[in-house]
Amino acid sequence: MCGIVGYVGEKQAAPILLDGLSKLEYRGYDSAGIAVYNGEEIGMKKSKGRLKVLSELTHDGEMMPGMIGIGHTRWATHGEPSDINAHPHFNKDQSIVVVHNGIIENYLKLKKKLTAKGYEFISDTDTEVIAHLLDYYYHGNPLQTITKIMHRMEGSYALGIMFKDHPDELYAVRKDSPLIVGESERGCIIASDVPAVLKYTRDVYFIENEEIVRMTKDSMEFFNVDEEQIEKESTHIDWDVDAAEKGGYEHFMLKEMYEQPKAVTDTFSPRIKGNDIVIEELGMTDEEIRAIRKIMIVACGSAYHAGVTSKYVFEGMARIPVEVDVASEYRYRDPIIDEGTLVVIISQSGETADSLAALRESKARGARVLGIVNVVGSSIAREADNVMYTWAGPEIAVATTKAYSCQLIAMYLLAMKFAKVRGQVTENEMKRYIEDMKRLPDQIELLLNNQNRIQKFANRYLAARDVFFIGRGIDYAISMEGSLKLKEISYIHSEAYAAGELKHGTISLIEEGTLVAAVLTQEDLYKKMISNMVEVRTRGAFVLAVTNEGNDEVERAADYVIYIPETNQYFTNSLAIIPLQLFGYYISVGRGCDVDKPRNLAKSVTVE
Ligand code: F6R
Repeated sequence: MCGIVGYVGEKQAAPILLDGLSKLEYRGYDSAGIAVYNGEEIGMKKSKGRLKVLSELTHDGEMMPGMIGIGHTRWATHGEPSDINAHPHFNKDQSIVVVHNGIIENYLKLKKKLTAKGYEFISDTDTEVIAHLLDYYYHGNPLQTITKIMHRMEGSYALGIMFKDHPDELYAVRKDSPLIVGESERGCIIASDVPAVLKYTRDVYFIENEEIVRMTKDSMEFFNVDEEQIEKESTHIDWDVDAAEKGGYEHFMLKEMYEQPKAVTDTFSPRIKGNDIVIEELGMTDEEIRAIRKIMIVACGSAYHAGVTSKYVFEGMARIPVEVDVASEYRYRDPIIDEGTLVVIISQSGETADSLAALRESKARGARVLGIVNVVGSSIAREADNVMYTWAGPEIAVATTKAYSCQLIAMYLLAMKFAKVRGQVTENEMKRYIEDMKRLPDQIELLLNNQNRIQKFANRYLAARDVFFIGRGIDYAISMEGSLKLKEISYIHSEAYAAGELKHGTISLIEEGTLVAAVLTQEDLYKKMISNMVEVRTRGAFVLAVTNEGNDEVERAADYVIYIPETNQYFTNSLAIIPLQLFGYYISVGRGCDVDKPRNLAKSVTVE
């Protein structure tokens, strides 16, 4: 997720671009850049670091004259944060310049083709491919060239483009990445999101997939991929700037929960090729995968919970022994690992001090280390032997939601890959897993759209003192995450228990009205779970159940039931977590807590 802006009009472009980027910094902040055309040449300035570095470099835009330009604030995907990888990107003679938000999935193939035609690449980005591809097809007609490259690119993109021989025209196009256009009396502005344009206009056009916009200082035309002109209606925006940053949602956490269908799709779609899983960045041959004797997953907090789920998935699907440990314990416990161990470090930020120390310890002991990381170029990403990125985009709320969901997806993909290479799944099973995975985004969306029921339920429990989350097997893993979500943002004490363990002590805490959230998605464990629910209910507990559609039997042991759509036994956590996230969120809101910045917590824990 990056932010793009563009402006053409009667005013100096650079200050407008910088101002627009400042409103989009929540979309990415590892580097920034602008390109401005002064009628003679296209000037460009870009740099690693926050936007203020670029503002200083350009004297707040004053040293870049010109009334047409594009800008970008980056959240690195391909290529670590650096001056060279920052956008915009030029073609070879600096006559075409582009900014991009999204991921070009077939960029390596395109890069190979262009390299063979003599194009030279200076960055590691997928975006530079777009600049050269535009150059390759360009014969004086920008619109035609843009439609041509749209047929060549796979993946997602929102682009802002300028052509030197069309000095008054700014182009923009999108597919699966957001793009809006606004028109004011002094010019036209494009942006990834509403906050960047609110200062200039409140009437915007939402560009749909495969639509192209051509703008001049006093005109705006829309085209489809067949170069036919189309009509569009503008939308009036009433949000204030603060609400607009959150896409109209009340909190970043809610916004990020609603981004999960897209984040999950972005994480799996480049890695599914037909009926196969291709994880190029894994850097392991089939022989090396077969030689792994043990997987050791190490992480903290929610990332650790994603690891606990993965243990069940890996062991069940790929039949490899898996250990999971919290990094702060692992690093000091003299772990038994060797060159037959694959250590997997899971981390959103890639900077968690304990996880980083665990990585270093593992390498020192001769293990191979794979990082599952969200922030490109972070310490864990750099130091791991190999890194598989989750494409969740920047996460602002302290409580993780979308990054956690993407960690699950990355681990499922890895387990599927290992299962295939080690001969533990049939072609048909693999096909079914892939179909199930592709259905997850719509199923997540469905659950999110049912938020009313959860909100209503949550409002009844705002004064709860203790909440228990129980489950068995993989459902125990999701209970841990559900419990953490609740306690960290609502400050209500909660615990997760393996349901069968309750009777060994904890059940004495159950009293009249105690809320117990029971998760039961594993068919072979339904009956056992129902017995545990009856045990707590007869002692006065109020039981909320999260289970699969069709498991009507649960109604006799629960007071309130939330059903999740059907998927296979390994992917259920990706669905069961949605109502639990919503539950934690609505309790927190109802209690008036600071949802996005809970007390005593930091987004990235860089100290021990
Ligand atoms: C909880 C949460 C934390 C993080 C943990 C690890 O909502 O976000 O528990 O999961 O601090 O952080 P990363 O993934 O950045 O290593």
